[in-house]
Amino acid sequence: MKIDNDQAIISPLLPTEFLPAGKPIRLGILASGSGSNFEAIAQAIQDHRLNAEIPILIYNNPGAAVIERAKKFQVKTCLVNHRDYRGDREKFDGKVVETLRENQVDWVIMAGWMRIATSVLVKAFPQRIINIHPSLLPSFPGINAIEQALQAGVKVTGCTVHLVVEAVDSGPIIMQAAVPILAKDTPETLHARVQIQEHQIMVGAIALATSQISN
Ligand code: GRF
Repeated sequence: MKIDNDQAIISPLLPTEFLPAGKPIRLGILASGSGSNFEAIAQAIQDHRLNAEIPILIYNNPGAAVIERAKKFQVKTCLVNHRDYRGDREKFDGKVVETLRENQVDWVIMAGWMRIATSVLVKAFPQRIINIHPSLLPSFPGINAIEQALQAGVKVTGCTVHLVVEAVDSGPIIMQAAVPILAKDTPETLHARVQIQEHQIMVGAIALATSQISN
């Protein structure tokens, strides 16, 4: 196993050796912004490190940079703009679910999806939704996790990939990576190092979860 950032501790070992063979898993990806985690997944698929395909990327912010990344990997995109639903989060999630179903996805990956999943989404894909969060949960849930860690003065933070349940940032943990906080860190430098690890555990956790959870 090679880890680019040798200051990180990752657990468990990335499970590339037990990627399921056969039919690729259909991932529906939800992203709101930059999309670097989306790209990590798409690159892993292209490199045959992940036996999956991405029939649809749903984004909620017009002009989000993830659109350009999707073009690069020729992934179909669909805008579902929460602003069109006037605060009706269930209705918004209903449209997200409809779009995911139209594209026959097996698993849903929240890759920087800055919306809280309602029961409409969680119940449509029980135990089939994955989220990534930039802290070692259960520490620092919610927004500004990087800033929260810096303010708390902890010496180690990291990132977590977990299954989504109806409470925010609190489903069963699939994989985590720890990243030491350096004295000179700013939110930007720390987030950059956390993201290097996010890209590793996002791919590893998808492989692990999709090969181990079935019903
Ligand atoms: C990541 O830090 C993720 O943990 C958080 O939002 C960020 C998304 O980054 N939920 P990107 O859009 O994948 O680059």
